[in-house]
Amino acid sequence: MKNIITIDGPVGTGKSSVSWSVSKRLNYHYLNSGVIYRIAAYYVLNNIYTSNQISEIVDQLNNDSIEFVTHPKNSKDYMVLLNGEDITSKVTSESYGNLASQISQSKVLREGLIKKQRDFDHESGLVADGRDMGSKIFPEARIKIFLTASPEVRAKRRYQQLINKGIDANLEDICDDITNRDFNDMHRSVSPMVVPKGAYLIDSSEYTFDEVVSQVIEVSEAMSGA
Ligand code: DC
Repeated sequence: MKNIITIDGPVGTGKSSVSWSVSKRLNYHYLNSGVIYRIAAYYVLNNIYTSNQISEIVDQLNNDSIEFVTHPKNSKDYMVLLNGEDITSKVTSESYGNLASQISQSKVLREGLIKKQRDFDHESGLVADGRDMGSKIFPEARIKIFLTASPEVRAKRRYQQLINKGIDANLEDICDDITNRDFNDMHRSVSPMVVPKGAYLIDSSEYTFDEVVSQVIEVSEAMSGA
């Protein structure tokens, strides 16, 4: 069993902030797998590749350096570096998320990115978040969490998150996006979002961010017999 904590779940559960925070608390490495699909969307939306050129996008991503590093101005947050360039605000917008959800249906893209994601595994430990981390990418993970929350709570959180980042947002559009993305992510034929076997289910609707982080840490400590 590998020293990996997977945190899967739908959009807007606070998954990536929780995962980053857990990784910092435990001194583990971090992978936000959604960012890799968002970078694929970035290549399409910026006309670098078309969505018909999936194998070129796979080659590009496999040659790219993708890093998650502590934000220099806010140690509680992280930056995404693509080949050394900070692309965090570029890939956070909803347009990239929606296109990522569509192109991530591609079998060629998903299979082509398996090794890239597994390469984030590190001897000091890894927290990996996404949709198929526990079910497909790291089935041998020590701890698997499935984080969820009601659609209303998720839409409001997502709205607030975007506004806090200075990104224009509309609550009704976010509700529609969440419904569409949940549907796409759960119904695609290749590694759909599922609750992984043996996963701990955490419904974060009624918990604060800190309470969710503490629950994950508690599960992690209980499993290591601490
Ligand atoms: O986690 P996120 O919302 O940033 O992910 C954006 C999209 O990428 C998501 O709607 C579906 C896709 N994705 C995926 O298919 N598998 C993952 N492990 C992570 C994300």
